[in-house]
Amino acid sequence: MEMKAKIAPSLLSADFACLSEQLSWLDELNVEYLHIDVMDGHFVPNITFGQCVIKSIRKCTKAVFDVHLMISDPMKYIEMFANAGADLITIHLEAGSQKPEEIIKKIKSYGKKAGISIKPGTSVESVMPYIHLLDLVLVMSVEPGFGGQKYIPGSENKIEILNKYIKSKNLNCIIEVDGGIDESNIPLVVSSGAQLLVCGNSVFGAKTPKQTYQKLQKVIESVSVQF
Ligand code: DX5
Ligand code: ZN
Repeated sequence: MEMKAKIAPSLLSADFACLSEQLSWLDELNVEYLHIDVMDGHFVPNITFGQCVIKSIRKCTKAVFDVHLMISDPMKYIEMFANAGADLITIHLEAGSQKPEEIIKKIKSYGKKAGISIKPGTSVESVMPYIHLLDLVLVMSVEPGFGGQKYIPGSENKIEILNKYIKSKNLNCIIEVDGGIDESNIPLVVSSGAQLLVCGNSVFGAKTPKQTYQKLQKVIESVSVQF
């Protein structure tokens, strides 16, 4: 599905003491996606939050809940996150003991969209056998686990390869990029074919998240994409 590139603000960098306040501007600006990082302290060396928080913030916005599961054995938790209000559930290719196609099937059985994410060290070819089943591929441009890291140069090459592959097969799968995205590299990732840009530190870490989001969205609009 061809879509204009969009910023997906990442909850990870929000102030958890006042989440409803932090999310109050999303609907006003028609922010389409909210990126939500779930970490289990096992698949990644950090722990964030689970379905209780997701359920609570579901009433704060109508944005698509783009839930990024950085957890081991994701199959076990699909139902929980589907019921908590996730709209799109992304698992890591490196995480599951189960076959990816089985997990995708499970996600879809709840009427949710399915994504697969790959870490910086995972080849882009390894996700290709599943792309025809997916709504989204998430290219990690930092090692998953923490916000505020620096973009790993060269991640755009993976985006470019994926974009060409998806186009050549005429598939309905969008490319999301996650990690270290800010004003300086938005033109690069968008021109490489990324359509959903996760921004944690660069939006919720900013003094004025709402204005910063608007500014970053304008940067996207200034990039002329030629494929
Ligand atoms: C990192 C998470 C990211 C994080 C990105 O493991 O998957 O979604 O929120 O944060 P920034 O934009 O600060 O790199
Ligand atoms: Zn993420």
